[in-house]
Amino acid sequence: MKLLLKNGHVVSSFNKLEGDLDVLIEDNVIVGVADKIEEAGVDQVIDCKGLAVIPGICDMHVHFRDPGQTHKEDIITGSEAAAAGGVTAVACMPNTNPVADSPEVIRYIIDKAKDAKVKIYPVGAITKGLAGDELCDFKALKAAGAVAVSDDGKPVKNAHTMGRAMIDAHYAGLKVISHCEDLDIIRGGIMNAGVVSLELGVPGMSRTSENIITGREIQLANDLQIPIHIAHVSTKEVVDLLRFATKRGVMVTSETAPHYFTLTEDRLFTRDADYRMNPPLRTEEDVKAISAAVCDGTIDCIVTDHAPHTAEEKSDFLKAPNGVVGLETSLAATLTKFYHTKQMKLIQIVRLMCENPRLILGLEGGLIKKGAVADIAVVDLDKEWLVEPEKLHSKSKNTCFKGMMFKGKVKYTIVNGKVVFEDKD
Ligand code: DOR
Ligand code: ZN
Repeated sequence: MKLLLKNGHVVSSFNKLEGDLDVLIEDNVIVGVADKIEEAGVDQVIDCKGLAVIPGICDMHVHFRDPGQTHKEDIITGSEAAAAGGVTAVACMPNTNPVADSPEVIRYIIDKAKDAKVKIYPVGAITKGLAGDELCDFKALKAAGAVAVSDDGKPVKNAHTMGRAMIDAHYAGLKVISHCEDLDIIRGGIMNAGVVSLELGVPGMSRTSENIITGREIQLANDLQIPIHIAHVSTKEVVDLLRFATKRGVMVTSETAPHYFTLTEDRLFTRDADYRMNPPLRTEEDVKAISAAVCDGTIDCIVTDHAPHTAEEKSDFLKAPNGVVGLETSLAATLTKFYHTKQMKLIQIVRLMCENPRLILGLEGGLIKKGAVADIAVVDLDKEWLVEPEKLHSKSKNTCFKGMMFKGKVKYTIVNGKVVFEDKD
């Protein structure tokens, strides 16, 4: 099967490629990238004139609820949401039921992912049952197919346990992804602690919780000389810590999500739990600092923390679980915020969303080049669209971007040389 992408604007950060080029795909491999490739002998031609052709996005932080809560999302529907967002690979977090703390659960995910539209890479747990005590068998998780370990959704409370985990995971060839939160500080808070939580009379989550544990992880990475990845950065102080650490050569990488550079705690005035996630939306100053850090490369990746929850659960502002879906809006939100305001070039966005996550996890793809795997997103950068929750492919509709207009929409998503999504709007 030969597929030709004609006349697209090709952008690939890893090999610093940018230009109006044709891309020829044979089966699952890119076999040619050139000014003009003949159509003779090609099975399918897609006219990409006026469209951007970029490597498929790798979202290294999603929650697919499978096994255990498949009424919220399963591996197949999660993969459909991913495909609709131009995402061709995801790393799914282990807070499933049962927890992905054993080779059996990792194998279940990999097996079910055979029918998925995109590539699914499981993240194993750091501790058994995410309880923070007993470390998992990282070598066994790795052998079963885990690509990293994390207790995401919960912190590893004890610094000694975290240090041991980093050492063991390192020797097993896995990176630790840290959910930085101090539950003794959080004490049941449900939104950012600040003027809005005070006005609403709602328990707050102090920024100190995230700042302190991120500082701890950076110190561990420095002292042990072992890399660590910091999940979902939301505060300006963490941005300062990351700058300080990377300048000194500490092996720390990090990610943030579009809601942290787009929205503030003011949204919570609506008392709508679709604006509640962990870490929470913070202040304008945090949004500015996160935005600057994404633009200057202090933060390495944009992810979604795609966290599906039912409308019923989300209907109770105080009791709702934290989390928002994001796979279908992440590229659009990023283009709207940074590309269309000229704060970032497309090649930088490709680095943050397509290249860096794969480099951090050691995954294939993330570039457009002869010989590379044919995982590609074709994007209409200028198409404006309204975020309507009911139109999302995800089983859950808890998006914090509902009702917003974005500029930039995925037109085709290609995985292993096959078109797995086409926008027909
Ligand atoms: O908002 C969040 N939701 N943050 C997390 O850390 C976990 C996630 C979930 O699993 O729902
Ligand atoms: Zn998460």
